[in-house]
Amino acid sequence: MLLSPSILAADMTDLKSMLPVLEGQVDFLHMDVMDGHFVPTLSFGEMYTKTIAKHTSIPLDVHLMVTNPEAEVPKYFDIKPANITFHVETTAFGVRLAGEIRKQGIRAGVSLNPATSLSTLDHLLDHIDLVLIMSVEPGFYGQSFLPLALDKIRELKRRIGGRPITIEVDGGITAANIRSVLDAGADMIVAGSAVFSGGTPERIKENIAALRKA
Ligand code: DX5
Ligand code: ZN
Repeated sequence: MLLSPSILAADMTDLKSMLPVLEGQVDFLHMDVMDGHFVPTLSFGEMYTKTIAKHTSIPLDVHLMVTNPEAEVPKYFDIKPANITFHVETTAFGVRLAGEIRKQGIRAGVSLNPATSLSTLDHLLDHIDLVLIMSVEPGFYGQSFLPLALDKIRELKRRIGGRPITIEVDGGITAANIRSVLDAGADMIVAGSAVFSGGTPERIKENIAALRKA
């Protein structure tokens, strides 16, 4: 299992001391970029993401919840994140955009809201490296997992067939439901509250251990 903690749920005034706690414990850092248009919340953008990149060697997993991803995606090229994921609902030119991400040596991801059908990926599957299934409506951390995501993961896995595409799942994942998400076919798990609740380095380490054990 690949674990990608969402730093949205961390104490964002204290990430400098939080990052060393995560080094060696997690596979990616999930960066939830929200623009206040595609989702109701405004979180942070490329400036904050660049600052984080400077202070950690953990590969970044950028999740762009923004309208006009064509304008936003290139802002992340110079920090060379591992993945850049945009939402399928936000563009009619996903093949082209994924191609531009891949040209930079960055893995291209596409995300789907709970309301969005897997058929919106039909034309993209030969052009992307990752699908991010939202298991909550995006915009906030700390929401409850929507069980409809489990069938979606299973069906996505079937549609992917032999292609080397990572299935990432995001929203409401806890030690109590992570097993079912992995059993359904997820390769990579995003967790915000389940990693950062308690806030202290000890609690964060315990939380990560509990997720890995489950
Ligand atoms: C939701 C974000 C998620 C969220 C995860 O809009 O994309 O990454 O922060 O947080 P939890 O795990 O608390 O749902
Ligand atoms: Zn996210």
